[in-house]
Amino acid sequence: MGNTKVITIDGPAGAGKSTVAKALAHRLKFSYLDTGAMYRALTLKALREDVNLESEEDLVALANKTTIDLQGDTTAGLKVFLDEQDVSEEIRTIEVTNNTFYIARAPKVREIMVEMQRAIGTKKNIVVEGRDVGTVVFPDATNKFYLDANFEERAQRRIKELEEKGKDVEAEKLKAELQDRDNKDFTRKAGPLKKADDAVVIDSTPLSIDGVVDEMMKYIKNG
Ligand code: C5P
Repeated sequence: MGNTKVITIDGPAGAGKSTVAKALAHRLKFSYLDTGAMYRALTLKALREDVNLESEEDLVALANKTTIDLQGDTTAGLKVFLDEQDVSEEIRTIEVTNNTFYIARAPKVREIMVEMQRAIGTKKNIVVEGRDVGTVVFPDATNKFYLDANFEERAQRRIKELEEKGKDVEAEKLKAELQDRDNKDFTRKAGPLKKADDAVVIDSTPLSIDGVVDEMMKYIKNG
């Protein structure tokens, strides 16, 4: 890993990883990386090009001819570029969200994503968030966290987030989709969501964003 520091945050959807990763990186003056955005970007391209999502071979071919780039900082936020096109908004649609599991479950596609993530993460001090970043992508990370929150709280956060964007939300449907995504994230064979043995668990249910970051800072040396 050279001389750069890597801090990993894994956890289920809605635990607050993206917001916390950004806020922590801001405090530490580190870069940050949202690995979920990369799975989302490749999913968007697969949907656009009508690729057979059941075919790992086709998904690998797609991944190999795709560039995904994340640019920005902790003040401006990250913009996600798919083959140089800004797709930051489009990767957040429900259609993309509900189809990421095809990309996420394909071991050979994950290998390509992991390589891309390591290439980004070894260049500078960074906070990385995802599902397997402490277990698979950066097993030697400087600090590892597993950010959790109870299901109801995670669902409510997602509902609020969507409502703030002016979307109509069917709470029961959203909960069913979140439950389904949890099940898929926890049970896939390749890169499942799992706490790394050496990760510190933080339950964000009762905490504010700053509260979570304060807690993390207690574990980060020279932070
Ligand atoms: O974090 P976010 O909800 O944007 O991630 C979208 C999906 O991408 C997750 O549900 C998961 O299936 C996949 N993912 C993954 N590995 C990561 C990050 C995300 O499989 N490191």
